[in-house]
Amino acid sequence: MAIISADVDVAVSFLEKGEVIGFPTETVYGLAGNIYKVDAIKQIYSVKERPLKNPLIVHIASINQLHEVAKNIPEKALAMVDTFWPGPLTIVLEKKDTVNDIITAGKNSVAVRMPNHPLALAVINKLNAPIAAPSANPFGTISPTSATHVSKYFNDKIPFILDGGNCISGIESTIIGFKEGNPILYRYGSLPVEDIEAVIGKLEVFTSNENSPEAPGMLHKHYSPKTKTILTSSLAEAISANANKRLGIVSFTNIQVTNTAIVHNEVLSPSGSLREAAYTLYAALHILDTLDIDIIIAERMPNEGLGLSINDRLERAAHA
Ligand code: TXA
Ligand code: MG
Repeated sequence: MAIISADVDVAVSFLEKGEVIGFPTETVYGLAGNIYKVDAIKQIYSVKERPLKNPLIVHIASINQLHEVAKNIPEKALAMVDTFWPGPLTIVLEKKDTVNDIITAGKNSVAVRMPNHPLALAVINKLNAPIAAPSANPFGTISPTSATHVSKYFNDKIPFILDGGNCISGIESTIIGFKEGNPILYRYGSLPVEDIEAVIGKLEVFTSNENSPEAPGMLHKHYSPKTKTILTSSLAEAISANANKRLGIVSFTNIQVTNTAIVHNEVLSPSGSLREAAYTLYAALHILDTLDIDIIIAERMPNEGLGLSINDRLERAAHA
């Protein structure tokens, strides 16, 4: 049974001993280990059942720690650091030898971010070491945005979950890397692309491919409920086409359709805010996945800002 508490000192003592814990950030919860404890790093992969070729993000709390793990940092990366950290932006940089090859899956780059969560920063500062953490969900499943979600997945596999409340951003960090000095978007996330482009100019979007060595882990099927999920631009059409089944609906705003096939409807943002929809998305999928329904029908968001990031997650959830 994992202890769930908001006690930073207890979290630090587990990390000092080389244990893996649940760890809150503003995006999603992480499965955290001290980057200098090799056993903890190995344990992260085994608890998550994650392929060893899929590298981890290193979380830091200071600019000194950025230079502890990365070198030859491009100007545009430093500009993003100045503007967006702490925040939901991960930057892939040339790694220093201080970072164990298991963390980076043998790559010579390391993914780094400074989370914008008071408990996360307090733990890293007190531990005085960066923390490696993937999202705290079994490989391929819906990401966790509360301590309860983490305990549902890993209650008997980790000793401690640091409870930092519900994650306020709600979907994973945006990931930017560099190719010959030019910035590339590896993953849509909680920081809108438009905000980044306002600081460093146009981003090239990496086209994902399951076998791409540059961006391992960008799998087409990911973030998936156990229930079959479909994504649609027209809820009315998708509902009437599946009216012989028990339906769970994820809609952006309140829906007009009434149909007895609808067992449950999760409305992501009654007021039509994409920020709120990102915040509520994973919790809605967690709820729908516990119900006795045949299909989840999710409504496509507007294709701009955080809508792009939410649609990215829904497309992967719906990938057959
Ligand atoms: O918001 C987040 O980023 C959360 C919280 C916990 O910080 N973390 C997270 O980690 O989403 P994870 O492991 O679920 O996703 C990290 C992604 C993976 O797809 C991985 O392949 C990619 O980052 N990544 C890590 N290191 C990389 C590297 N050196 N080059 C390219 N991609 C990398
Ligand atoms: Mg993940």
